[in-house]
Amino acid sequence: MIVTIDGPAGSGKSSTAKAVAKKTNWYYLDSGSLYRTWTLLYIMGGMDMKVFLEFLDSHNVTLHASDGDIEPLLNGEGVGDEIRTTIVSDNVSAVAAMSEVRAKVNEEMRRVVKEHDFVADGRDLGSVVFPDAALKFYMIADLDERALRRKKELESKGIEANLKAIRSNLAERDHLDSSRDEAPLTKPEGAVEVDTTRMDFEEQVAFIVNAIKEKVE
Ligand code: C5P
Repeated sequence: MIVTIDGPAGSGKSSTAKAVAKKTNWYYLDSGSLYRTWTLLYIMGGMDMKVFLEFLDSHNVTLHASDGDIEPLLNGEGVGDEIRTTIVSDNVSAVAAMSEVRAKVNEEMRRVVKEHDFVADGRDLGSVVFPDAALKFYMIADLDERALRRKKELESKGIEANLKAIRSNLAERDHLDSSRDEAPLTKPEGAVEVDTTRMDFEEQVAFIVNAIKEKVE
């Protein structure tokens, strides 16, 4: 079974999906982490599109599941928080707009979901990648609130964060992700919209866990 949570950057998708997965004993699939890992490779190649296109064939980005956790690997090695840095965030939407990259990411996600139950978060999961998902959510929140949350999240990981820069990165990514030709960010058909601006974290999680319980029972 698969439950999808799509929405703009910083709307609370990943932290909510992670907590829901824990409560339901499912795996959490962070599709953005795959795009971020390919972006890391793009940066390693000197941000040269020609080099990156060659890298796409000679390197691989995979998902590794163990002990209820799932992590992206670049050529078999974990990438950790290297994929959360500002330079990766600033370049990820351009890399994610490439159809070659999307095809690879989608293939890997579809492979891994055959083996487990998943709560998955992203931009196009309910609309394109898993249109037959058992339940679909579309999570949104005001831009200022999203920027504040992202700042706290980065700081908790010891990554220095500037609120103005985060806000403009989120706005820029919203724009690029919604306006691209392939698999743009959109509310999937049949998705339940959840506006988290004034919801607290526990409420968000409970809302989705209850919806899953209703569906499963
Ligand atoms: O979820 P996160 O913010 O880490 O995603 C990083 C970027 O990856 C997004 O801004 C978007 O450009 C891309 N992405 C995507 N499709 C997905 C998940 C992420 O294009 N399903």
